[in-house]
Amino acid sequence: MKAIISETYGTPNTLKISEVATPTPKSNEVLIRVHASSLNFGNIVLITGKPLPVRLAFGITKPKYRIPGGDMAGIVETIGANVTRIQVGNEVYGDLSGSGWGAFAEYVAVDEKVLALKPRNHSFAEAAAVPMAATTALQAIRDKGMVRAEQKVLIHGASGGVGTFAVQIAKAFGAEVTAVVSTRNVDIARSLGADHVIDYKTVDFTKDDQTYDVILRVTGSHSISTYNRKLKRNGVFINVGGDSNQMFQTMLNQRGSL
Ligand SMILES: NC(=O)c1ccc[n+]([C@@H]2O[C@H](COP(=O)([O-])OP(=O)(O)OC[C@H]3O[C@@H](n4cnc5c(N)ncnc54)[C@H](OP(=O)(O)O)[C@@H]3O)[C@@H](O)[C@H]2O)c1
Repeated sequence: MKAIISETYGTPNTLKISEVATPTPKSNEVLIRVHASSLNFGNIVLITGKPLPVRLAFGITKPKYRIPGGDMAGIVETIGANVTRIQVGNEVYGDLSGSGWGAFAEYVAVDEKVLALKPRNHSFAEAAAVPMAATTALQAIRDKGMVRAEQKVLIHGASGGVGTFAVQIAKAFGAEVTAVVSTRNVDIARSLGADHVIDYKTVDFTKDDQTYDVILRVTGSHSISTYNRKLKRNGVFINVGGDSNQMFQTMLNQRGSL
């Protein structure tokens, strides 16, 4: 089969298309013919090997996962002897970043437990854009934020991979959502259902009197204390991603959640 191979850390120019052996699924795995896979932050980290601490997981001197590609959608070709939930011919999608990557190839063999059946009303390309970013947003809004109807939720960085899903999920839970985005993404944030959209190029949301039950920072450089000041009593601050300094600050923050 053809696959995109990453032999060394660097820019996307280091990637090569090569012929490699089609994987054979183990007893708990299924072999998928990949129809679509998508790119996001995780792929950049895997290909560049930066920030450096990620190399503890991805390989110290060179990538240990030779075929990148996390999010994917495809059709099951064969199944291992102990597979119970997935059948040959199923249309599936999933995030392979926790199980060896490998989606930038014609075929990938993967544990059935990381797969879900693809909704019939979505294309392979649409399904492949969902798993990692949407699951991160779901964990942030539902599990960490425990967002409920009529709560006020602010999402800083609402127009990217995680933020666009977070807006829609918070709306689905009945929250009143404020999206903070740059000028070019104001219309996108509105179209996703945000009740209020703040263009951070022209307005500094930290300067008004509004406070929130939940603040999700996906991107944004304000200090943790500034976000805390914008929280209601018992409000929750959630941090997704950012640099190591922001993550460390969040871990020390009594009101924060990663
Ligand atoms: N994608 C995933 O699956 C995933 C999973 C786990 C963790 N993460 C982490 O989450 C973070 C964001 O990932 P992402 O995939 O959502 O990134 P992304 O698609 O690049 O989106 C980032 C958003 O931040 C906005 N932004 C940029 N500079 C900003 C600023 N100064 N103030 C406010 N907003 C700003 C950008 O939109 P504007 O032009 O509108 O500002 C953009 O929409 C990263 O640290 C990543 O490592 C991502």
